[in-house]
Amino acid sequence: MGLSLVDKQGPQSQKMVIFGAIFLLMTLLILYSSNSGNDISPFYRPFRGSVPHRAIKVTDLKKWAGKEGYVAVYGNKSMTLHCHHCALVTSSSHVLGGGAGPDIDAAQCVIRMNDAPTTGFERDVGNRTTLRVVAHSSVFRVARRPGEFLNRTDRGSHSAVIFWGPPSKIGRDARGTLYRLIQRVSMTYSNLSSFTITPNKMHKFDTLFQKETGRDRAKSQSWLSTGWFTMVIAIEMCDNIKVYGMVPPSHCVKRPQPKKMPYHYYKPRGPDECTTYLQNERGRKGPHHRFITEKQVFARWARHYNITFTHPRW
Ligand SMILES: *[C@@H]1O[C@H](CO)[C@@H](O)[C@H](O)[C@H]1NC(C)=O
Ligand SMILES: *[C@@H]1O[C@H](CO)[C@@H](O)[C@H](O)[C@H]1NC(C)=O
Ligand SMILES: *[C@@H]1O[C@H](CO)[C@@H](O)[C@H](O)[C@H]1NC(C)=O
Ligand SMILES: *[C@@H]1O[C@H](CO)[C@@H](O)[C@H](O)[C@H]1NC(C)=O
Ligand SMILES: *[C@@H]1O[C@H](CO)[C@@H](O)[C@H](O)[C@H]1NC(C)=O
Repeated sequence: MGLSLVDKQGPQSQKMVIFGAIFLLMTLLILYSSNSGNDISPFYRPFRGSVPHRAIKVTDLKKWAGKEGYVAVYGNKSMTLHCHHCALVTSSSHVLGGGAGPDIDAAQCVIRMNDAPTTGFERDVGNRTTLRVVAHSSVFRVARRPGEFLNRTDRGSHSAVIFWGPPSKIGRDARGTLYRLIQRVSMTYSNLSSFTITPNKMHKFDTLFQKETGRDRAKSQSWLSTGWFTMVIAIEMCDNIKVYGMVPPSHCVKRPQPKKMPYHYYKPRGPDECTTYLQNERGRKGPHHRFITEKQVFARWARHYNITFTHPRW
């Protein structure tokens, strides 16, 4: 098709076509490489350093919640998901070998993150997905395997995807490649309800992190993780949450050091979990998540909301 187009036109337009193709390839390459790393967003830089040792007032997340924070990408849908019992399945390799699949599938709603698959891991992670929370940096990987992530319903009824990211990338006014991909996917797999987080709500996630860690966003040098968004959304929509595969905040700093475990259960040769956590927690420059700080907040929330942790239990 491309060739016949070139044949019919002069050498000038041939050049144009070639330049166009090269430009497109470069753009795709840059997009791909910038999206294959961590799910980070320079838009959010909540704080620098560790959590100060002073009393921090806990925000009432049930009141903080609001359906208006999520907009349907396609169609007239609203984010009305409410569940009594939720299973929040993390992407950590701590879930492997636990045989928690049937227990997870027995929950009313099952929440997963990014491109964590179920196929091939059913025994340990189950096979249902009610809600998937996807970072802007994981959109391409999710779109590449529609059968696994998109063309599915949960027990024949609705399931949802929430995409989070900086408004410049996934917001209504964003007209870039990423937003168009999200739109296309939402139209094609319309049995799945796709939402994006509004800029206003993104800002609320940001200030929530500041409030919970007592750190000034202006001095920030770190980024929120998909785990942060997912935990907050789970607290909003679930009366009870059972979290699978999340280690306690102290796990990676205890002595002797815990044995090496892959960061993601579906990437057995990927980076070690504790190495990733510690490097991110101590990082001063560039894109860093504060996984350990986030878990300290989760541990505090667990005392206020009905959250339990299993595999490992804590
Ligand atoms: C959208 O759906 C709601 C109820 O689900 C309905 O009240 C409203 O009229 C619908 N709007 C449009 C534009 O279809
Ligand atoms: C999910 O697992 C259950 C058993 O735990 C099985 O009955 C069901 O067919 C599986 N569904 C899919 C879509 O794999
Ligand atoms: C979704 O999966 C069904 C089979 O389960 C298939 O018939 C259908 O063509 C798929 N839809 C898309 C858009 O790929
Ligand atoms: C949506 O779900 C219905 C019934 O569950 C099914 O018949 C239909 O093929 C699905 N549509 C798509 C696009 O997958
Ligand atoms: C905790 O669970 C109980 C019973 O399932 C429920 O009534 C209560 O509202 C839940 N508390 C919170 C804070 O969600």
